[in-house]
Amino acid sequence: MRQLEKFLKLFIPPIISSPIRNRRKRREEKRYDKIPDRRFYDGVFSPWLGYGEFGSLFDAIRKFTLVSPARAWMLYSLASQSLSISGSFYEAGVFRGGTALLLRKILETNSTGKQLRLFDTFGGMPKTNAEKDIHQAGDFSDTSLKGVQTLVGTPAFVTYHPGIIPASFVGLESDVIAFAHIDLDIYQGILDSCRFIYPRLSAGGIIVFDDYGFMSCPGAREAVDQFFADKPEVPLVLPTGQAIVFKL
Ligand SMILES: C[S@@+](CC[C@H](N)C(=O)[O-])C[C@H]1O[C@@H](n2cnc3c(N)ncnc32)[C@H](O)[C@@H]1O
Repeated sequence: MRQLEKFLKLFIPPIISSPIRNRRKRREEKRYDKIPDRRFYDGVFSPWLGYGEFGSLFDAIRKFTLVSPARAWMLYSLASQSLSISGSFYEAGVFRGGTALLLRKILETNSTGKQLRLFDTFGGMPKTNAEKDIHQAGDFSDTSLKGVQTLVGTPAFVTYHPGIIPASFVGLESDVIAFAHIDLDIYQGILDSCRFIYPRLSAGGIIVFDDYGFMSCPGAREAVDQFFADKPEVPLVLPTGQAIVFKL
């Protein structure tokens, strides 16, 4: 069949050979029709295209987040796994509240009694490090604490910690943490978050670094690599740009 196609390609004009090729493609495609959830395959199974309850969860946050569906899927899966780990959920880097709303919905669906703590200036990036970061002070200022509270809500299990990290961690030293989403984009805040969160993270707890591999966030990778250089955990780098740490 392939030899025939090669022959057709060489000697027969495309007007005749392309219908033959198209027919073959349609026949191949048809074989896959019987795969359950065929529409969530894009070469491979790609549940971030909207599989299961994730579809409606992502629809609810898409207008309020900078995080892509594939990254939100990783967050959704890893946060869901962390429901059975002891401790609170942290998000450092909230901006307009998109991923915070996803975490709120995961917690409330499972009614675990866990606390969700949200950390941001809620008014834009603080001072950045010109040698390590590309972002600048004042980036992401198009948001407000009030706006995020309206979106994510103010039930007792969600608490807001406005201010600059690490000052906004003060008073929480006795916390135990199950899951942290660190999405700060810049060196110092990420390093300070690792210093506070890692020692309080339960065994089996998870940290998701959203921006580890982004060309726009070189300070993120430097902070994570520096912090974990002398730890037993090895950050798992994903093709999405995220890096994941599973606490031993
Ligand atoms: C990329 S945005 C977060 C995106 C968000 N998770 C979403 O769903 O779109 C990064 C946020 O980190 C915040 N941020 C960066 N460094 C910070 C620090 N040291 N303390 C508090 N907030 C910080 C910025 O204000 C900004 O809102």
